[in-house]
Amino acid sequence: MTTYVAPSILSADFSKMAEELKVIENSNADWIHIDVMDGHFVPNLTFGPPIIKSFRPHSKMVFDVHLMIEQPERWLEEYKKAGADRITFHIEACNHSHRYLASIKEMGIASGITLNPQTPLCAIENVIEECDQVLIMTVNPGFGGQKLIEPIIDKIRSLKAMIKEKKLRTLIQVDGGINADNAKKVVEAGADILVMGSAFFNSTDKKSLVSTIQAL
Ligand code: DX5
Ligand code: ZN
Repeated sequence: MTTYVAPSILSADFSKMAEELKVIENSNADWIHIDVMDGHFVPNLTFGPPIIKSFRPHSKMVFDVHLMIEQPERWLEEYKKAGADRITFHIEACNHSHRYLASIKEMGIASGITLNPQTPLCAIENVIEECDQVLIMTVNPGFGGQKLIEPIIDKIRSLKAMIKEKKLRTLIQVDGGINADNAKKVVEAGADILVMGSAFFNSTDKKSLVSTIQAL
């Protein structure tokens, strides 16, 4: 299987988002990763459904929406209406993840759970069957440009083993501090989708960065 690359628009220039969406498309990346932060669940604030809706006419790519918000269940429908193709929410932000995964599926889009670095894998052991993807945070969420937390690579390995043992097809996504130097390591540990913010937007040859990672 090839590795998917999902550039995160958190590192894009917000004043010219239509152009930045084209930059992502022209790089031949697979998905567009959209980081929603509410200033409560994480100490930073980005954007919500109306702004995502305004991006939608400028791109046909998959919108992979990463909700870093409290009570995500209140907003799932709004994000779907805004144009999300995939929604992941944090297990730390809610008590009934099984129900919310089902709600996302009922909307006809892909669902996923995200785990902060401090959250053990056993938190998803009984709901992973409902996940199209599991997003492992390799930094503490809230900001781009942080350094990958190395011990989390073991968590990717354990998640891969859990998926294999349960005979599932769940995709493993990693997010935070991913770059050309550590991409191979996370892919070898089992990651299928690599989110890249600063490494993508700082790259002078985005096409080759993307194709190198897709080939891992
Ligand atoms: C961080 C976000 C990430 C961020 C990654 O909370 O979830 O998606 O954009 O940025 P980099 O790749 O710069 O760590
Ligand atoms: Zn993210």
